[in-house]
Amino acid sequence: MLNAPAYALAAGRENRVIARPPQLARPEGHAPTLAQLRAEAASCTRCRLYERATQTVFGEGRGAAPLMLVGEQAGDREDRLGRPFVGPAGHLLQAALEEAGIDRSQVYLTNAVKHFKWRPDPRSRRRLHSRPSASEIDACRHWLGWEIRLLRPRTIVCLGAIAVRGVLGVTTPLRQLRGTVLELEGTRVLVSLHPAAVLRLPDEEARSIAFAELVEDLRLAAGTET
Ligand code: URA
Repeated sequence: MLNAPAYALAAGRENRVIARPPQLARPEGHAPTLAQLRAEAASCTRCRLYERATQTVFGEGRGAAPLMLVGEQAGDREDRLGRPFVGPAGHLLQAALEEAGIDRSQVYLTNAVKHFKWRPDPRSRRRLHSRPSASEIDACRHWLGWEIRLLRPRTIVCLGAIAVRGVLGVTTPLRQLRGTVLELEGTRVLVSLHPAAVLRLPDEEARSIAFAELVEDLRLAAGTET
């Protein structure tokens, strides 16, 4: 029998093979403290997203949290308030955390991309969310990599494909990875749906199925499955 490479060995539900070995983001420089990292990130110019964003939205939550949730990027509300997951997607995430029996104050919440990427809506004054490019996600892996190394969470949940790219450096379809538990450098990494993607689903039934999947993944991540 062939020995499967470590990255193809997925505990959890089913084994799935990933084309390229995922690797936790590798930051540069000497280890800062989390407070130093946050201060440095506030003046980040690693990509051009800072030019149109109000501020860097750094991670927040329990410092020594066993569970880290990584989202995609700050949204409009997060950009204004300077905190992750405080808009509509954050409300849905909060509901999913409650349903999974997880206290938000016990987790560390952050994003793969720490500036809001947006374009003007030609019909209104709204700022429309734009998807960050691979190079923007990769530029931000420096901050995420240090957050992971400094906090050493037992489990990381990647919420959506951008988080997967940020945490693991791979571009693998989400549905292929969802439900898989990877073990990387002593950290468990799980992939789930992004709460905003759940919100965007067109009908009630699809939304409630996707919400249940998100809750199931969060339970698996926190070890609160029943
Ligand atoms: N979506 C994200 O991925 N992160 C946030 O902080 C808000 C919305």
